[in-house]
Amino acid sequence: MKYKVRQMTIRDYDAVISLWREIPGIGLDDDSDSRLGITRYLKRNPGLSFVAQIQDMIVGTVLSGHDGRRGYLHHLAVVASHRKLGIGKTLTSRCLRALGKQGIPKCNIFLLRSNSRGRSFWKHNGWNLRQDLSVLQKKTKDL
Ligand SMILES: CC(C)(COP(=O)(O)OP(=O)(O)OC[C@H]1O[C@@H](n2cnc3c(N)ncnc32)[C@H](O)[C@@H]1OP(=O)(O)O)[C@@H](O)C(=O)NCCC(=O)NCCS
Repeated sequence: MKYKVRQMTIRDYDAVISLWREIPGIGLDDDSDSRLGITRYLKRNPGLSFVAQIQDMIVGTVLSGHDGRRGYLHHLAVVASHRKLGIGKTLTSRCLRALGKQGIPKCNIFLLRSNSRGRSFWKHNGWNLRQDLSVLQKKTKDL
């Protein structure tokens, strides 16, 4: 099936958020994934997030960005009806290529521990599970 991949813009927000909401394994955050949060993310990381589209329908999406040192990839998702067609891999490669062009040597992913299918996808595609690291987090308002 023929699909095209293009940069994501905030005009894609409604389609993308409903796609993410339908898919178990995508952990959504009320603030960061709100329209305002995604607007801020895309402005801060221009040209690094993508959608896959067939005619008018968005069938896959991914966010990526970097902090000047490491790249981060978030919320890779492909609608169930269009999986195993190479869309997830293509979206990921677009992010890695774009991050590499900006001089970023490595990219990280946050993966829900419960998402065993997602883990198997990343491992199959050559991503290294770092057993030696944990993610720690605090809200900025909790000084
Ligand atoms: C993970 C996901 C994005 C994969 O998308 P996809 O478009 O089906 O993947 P692709 O067709 O590009 O697959 C690329 C390769 O990975 C393999 N693959 C796909 N899903 C896989 C899985 N769950 N486990 C192992 N390998 C997998 C494919 O067979 C293909 O292998 P090949 O290149 O050797 O032929 C999709 O299943 C999804 O949206 N899952 C729910 C959301 C999620 O878990 N996202 C990741 C967490 S952030």
